[in-house]
Amino acid sequence: MTIATPTAAAELLCFNPGCRARFAITEVLYNCPQCGGLIEAGYAAPDSDAATLKRTFRDRRLSNAPLDQSGVWRYRELFPFLADYTRVVTLREGNTPLLDAPAAAEYGGLARIAFKHQGFNPTGSFKDNGMTCGVAQALRLGMRRVACVSTGNTSASMAAYAAAAGLEALIFLPHGNISFGKLAQALEYGAKTLEVEANFDQILALIRVLADRLGIYLLNSVNPFRIEGQKSIMFEMLDQRDWRVPDWVVLPGGNLGNVSAFGKGLREAKDAGLIHRLPRLAVIQAEGSAPFYEFVHTGAKEFHPVAKPETLATAIRIGDPVSWPKALHEINSTNGLVEKVSEQEIADAKAIIGRCGIGCEPASAATLAGIRKLTAVGAIDREADVVAVLTGNLLKDPDYIYKYHTGKLEAPGGVKIRSTYGNQSIVVPNDPDRIAALLT
Ligand code: F0G
Repeated sequence: MTIATPTAAAELLCFNPGCRARFAITEVLYNCPQCGGLIEAGYAAPDSDAATLKRTFRDRRLSNAPLDQSGVWRYRELFPFLADYTRVVTLREGNTPLLDAPAAAEYGGLARIAFKHQGFNPTGSFKDNGMTCGVAQALRLGMRRVACVSTGNTSASMAAYAAAAGLEALIFLPHGNISFGKLAQALEYGAKTLEVEANFDQILALIRVLADRLGIYLLNSVNPFRIEGQKSIMFEMLDQRDWRVPDWVVLPGGNLGNVSAFGKGLREAKDAGLIHRLPRLAVIQAEGSAPFYEFVHTGAKEFHPVAKPETLATAIRIGDPVSWPKALHEINSTNGLVEKVSEQEIADAKAIIGRCGIGCEPASAATLAGIRKLTAVGAIDREADVVAVLTGNLLKDPDYIYKYHTGKLEAPGGVKIRSTYGNQSIVVPNDPDRIAALLT
């Protein structure tokens, strides 16, 4: 196994404020060996000042170098964990647009909204931002096999990056609870795919045992390098807005890796002088899988997982999110909040995003559903400057869409979802007169 020289300025740290144990950046760690806390990467302050960094990031958009073309590695001074960039595998991840959507804004009770659409990524979700970094670290550590449990997007992304990097990919999925679009991606990218008869949380516990036993590198968001990559979603969003900070960044919450990444990225951008205040983070969960919402709103002392999480937004069907301590820190640091939304609210919000010509997968639409609730009670102001992150592509879950539009969508437990904004195809004979009659 070849281990590259550790970057002196980068290290791993225990996230637990009472511990903060420090480790070499080249250690394989998902939890602190001393206290069991989560692990994060930490760095010395960047060498360059904010103005120089901003100019460098902007200049790289004109470069043909693969690393500069990546919407992740373009910002590499802000996550300098590698000593050597020659083995980085990029599929030109990131580079996702900020899209105005007036009809969605109106539905959400806002004067305007911008969607940061991570579904434009190479495998169709925000996971690619993190995966390019996780796989870079796997290569740097000399790992040959990588693994993850997934509700579908992490596995699609890991399969693609592992294939591109020449690594063996082992994927563990909750049997029967992932969309075919995502499963198809894992198969097409050549991953060894195991469907386990257990839910996401149970499988995560299982593969952590297997990873240790078999020396496999775990690429779930407990891997701190995934979080480092996902920070770039915030850097790119700010860069696209000429570093104007929005009032709110709204995102769906499942395993809570993304909100942890966003908060860390935003705090670090502020420390580096790239921005002068933080936006507020709002995490939206599905009602049937909302342990973080319950924790924050009940003020409970202990975190209580949901034993049987349910939602048709299968991407966020997670009852025991591993990153909740980080997520809590980021919600508190940004004076943020947590909301939950129903299956009907997700489905209708999703159709509205579709009507804007944008589209997304169900979990992503929780953002707009949450915004609608939050503006209705005055928690988000109508005039607020809001960026909502659409996490996955429309085509990830076509089955859900077809059922919604044809009135066949049922929530867990059998409750019918109304197709409030339904749109059905019409079967017509091959007859111009009758078709013309229909269209006039
Ligand atoms: N949106 C989509 C489309 C997702 O795939 C996920 C998570 C989330 C939101 C929630 O993000 O976990 O960072 O809070 N999907 C994971 C997976 C769990 O396995 O693909 P989170």
